[in-house]
Amino acid sequence: MKILIMNGPNLNLLGSREPGIYGAGTMDDCLESLRSRYPHIELLYFQSNVEGFLIDRLQEAAREGVDGVVLNAGAYTHTSVALHDAIRSIHVPVVEIHISNVHTREDFRRHSVIAPACRGVICGFGLGSYRLGLEALIG
Ligand code: DQA
Repeated sequence: MKILIMNGPNLNLLGSREPGIYGAGTMDDCLESLRSRYPHIELLYFQSNVEGFLIDRLQEAAREGVDGVVLNAGAYTHTSVALHDAIRSIHVPVVEIHISNVHTREDFRRHSVIAPACRGVICGFGLGSYRLGLEALIG
């Protein structure tokens, strides 16, 4: 199986960005532990701060036969109709995930524009949300 983990804006700063909310672990640590835990899964990773690049990568994922996407769209979760449409346009299951529990934070984080286009939503488990998202896809 081939799974794409995708991160949106500011998630390149994991480890140093608001560690009280997002923890001290880096995405490299997270990917390393997922790769050693699931050696039989081909794990691809993409991060961008640019909305259009995330959309391009989703479309490419569909073309290259990716079996599922674990998507942390960051702040675009709450705003991006274009990402919603992109998720709907591809025939690849997408699981929306968040590191923090967005429901305990500011009101604007409670609404996800992309959730209705996704297979399901996981939030609040720290970097463990990526593992849970992956497990939701691989069954
Ligand atoms: C986030 C939550 C979003 O509200 C925020 O904009 C992020 C990170 C999370 O993983 O908890 O960038 O997606």
